[in-house]
Amino acid sequence: MMDLFSDIDAEERQEIVSLRKELEEANYKYYVLNMPTLSDREFDEKMRRLQDLEKAHPEMEDKNSPTQHVGSDLRPNAQNNGTGGKGKAFETVIHRYPMLSLANSYSLDEIQDWLRKLPQNVEIVCELKFDGLSISLWYDEGRLTKAVTRGDGQKGDNVINNIRTIPTIPQTIDHGPAHFEMRGEVLLPWSNFERLNKEREEQEEPLFANPRNAASGTLKLLDTDEVKRRGLTCFLYYMLGEDLPGDTHFDRLQTAKAWGFPISDAVKVCHTLDEVNDYIRYWDTERKNLPVATDGIVLKVNNLEQQQQLGYTAKTPRWAIAYKFPAEKQLTRLKQITYQVGRTGVITPVANLEPIQLSGTIVQRATLHNEDFIRSLDIRPGDYVWVEKGGEIIPKIVGRADRNDEMSATSSLNDGMMYSFPDVCPECGTPLIRVEGEAAWRCPNETGCPPQIKGKIEHFVSRKAMNIDGLGEETIDLLYRQGLLHNIADIYDLKASDIASQERFGDKSADNILAGIEASKQVPWARVLFALGIRMVGETTAKKITKRYPSIEALRSATKDELTAIEDVGTQITENIVAYFANEQNQRIIARLQQAGLQFELSEEERSTLDAPLSTKLQGQSIVISGTFEQHSRDEYKAMIEAHGGKNVGSVSKKTSFILAGDNMGPEKRKKAEELGIPLVTENAFLQMLS
Ligand code: IVH
Repeated sequence: MMDLFSDIDAEERQEIVSLRKELEEANYKYYVLNMPTLSDREFDEKMRRLQDLEKAHPEMEDKNSPTQHVGSDLRPNAQNNGTGGKGKAFETVIHRYPMLSLANSYSLDEIQDWLRKLPQNVEIVCELKFDGLSISLWYDEGRLTKAVTRGDGQKGDNVINNIRTIPTIPQTIDHGPAHFEMRGEVLLPWSNFERLNKEREEQEEPLFANPRNAASGTLKLLDTDEVKRRGLTCFLYYMLGEDLPGDTHFDRLQTAKAWGFPISDAVKVCHTLDEVNDYIRYWDTERKNLPVATDGIVLKVNNLEQQQQLGYTAKTPRWAIAYKFPAEKQLTRLKQITYQVGRTGVITPVANLEPIQLSGTIVQRATLHNEDFIRSLDIRPGDYVWVEKGGEIIPKIVGRADRNDEMSATSSLNDGMMYSFPDVCPECGTPLIRVEGEAAWRCPNETGCPPQIKGKIEHFVSRKAMNIDGLGEETIDLLYRQGLLHNIADIYDLKASDIASQERFGDKSADNILAGIEASKQVPWARVLFALGIRMVGETTAKKITKRYPSIEALRSATKDELTAIEDVGTQITENIVAYFANEQNQRIIARLQQAGLQFELSEEERSTLDAPLSTKLQGQSIVISGTFEQHSRDEYKAMIEAHGGKNVGSVSKKTSFILAGDNMGPEKRKKAEELGIPLVTENAFLQMLS
């Protein structure tokens, strides 16, 4: 084999191999794990080097090289896919036209190089590069029929139900050819992103690093009400299909706008490099005032015939290029690492930085996530670290300066010593534990560690839990320090005089707080369960659990197997629930809360709606189940049909609405269905129907 490559030296071959490996890995970490390891720029530089090497040595061609395919946006999303890890929730759709990405550039010089390769006097359309997720909207006979994510560029997920929550996307359209596609970007506006992260912070759920990740997580939810609540938006920038109107990209976008599609107003036709430069300079500042995230500018050849002549490379069109805004990044000194203890005892290391100005705000603290993160970057107090604030609202530490650099050589406080995570809780001194497979160290002193005690009370009174007005963070801290509040049950023993005697509190505020406490006794069982603060039992999970277990007695005696059978409840959540109820202190607290009169069971009204169908999506339909299935058992499908108002019948007849067809469907049934023209619906399509 080796002799075949006589014109390539071993070093270059090695470089190709290792670049491919590195880029593959970076793609995986970016798209799949959602943990970028290379900056966009580094990634592009390495990709270019690999392209150059492959070009110089065509004998090294490999269809599997990262230069030959675009990355994937199909991320594992066990929490969100709604199938409890049991399978795929969305229909996979093969794109009618592959969804390509764009070549990136970072300077005017690079743009000039690109322009030189184009015909003379070419018109260029400049657009904003929206930083969300690409989506392809299919319009057939005037109706929105599919909304497909990019996926791996060849096939993606049909997320139409979630897309339908976006009010600016037309569901029907009176114009245009019979079949066409509109492509664009789905985004979560900054304000909604910030609100969502605030809620997640309150509930100690992991924060989304940026609106793009939040939009991605949202698009893959099965709960459309939640998607709607989060408030996605969309901008479209590309029309595809046969017999489309107009000769230029710009005209086509304006037509699309007239048809009612959401097209950005920032689209502009430019004729010279200077005009392009002005556009870039203007938007690099002005984008900070936009309601959605952008990460650059896209330049496209305006004339569609010229576009066609220029054509495509394997991954990108030659008629378009992206210019990426530089991410704001600065070096600063890490003064100290401190540790924050959360409500569930998770210890988060925090970087305390020499203050720096980044994207208009002063940054002096940034999360260091966990021990593994600190070790992977080998960060120690005294080091100079790179802090970046790109699309991210939360500043990130993205690297460390070389300790041998003149600037940082003398600065490392513990030169030569590896960083070590503390052994004991910084708040209460209890030895920390780290559960195998988890990244976080945790303080196990749930009932004696002050931030855990206060955090649990804060969670309990929060808006989505017991919603006790007036008991804010400061008041809880005050009452805790006075020895009046040690756990959530103490809230119900508070007396007006306890509160009114505090500084800055009077009779009126005491009355308000007590009224809030009294009102919380009517809060329904699902929210009470959420308020207890069992690890990983969020609002939605609590709702699902209480539907299955209408009272705390029923829940307490549930077996692990029964619990894991609940949608979205995995083994970890089950373990947490069982451990919670086994703890004697928790048992005492619950007994006191019951005594106080909280709702530990569903009300009559809630119970009566339980038996009602989940929806009427299958109302009046007779459905035959045939074959074997991957994601649910036949019994589960039967239950689902009934829960949505349908009827499960045994044999195929004229009256059958459709057949839920799995693998190896019975030949008799298949024949009969064909004769009677009864549609077969696949497992995925069926789940999609109900989602
Ligand atoms: S055009 C064939 N225009 O950027 C070219 N893309 O890095 C189709 N994007 O996958 C893309 N804003 O998700 C185009 N105004 C814009 C864009 C845009 C954002 C995204 C798109 C694409 C990615 C490429």
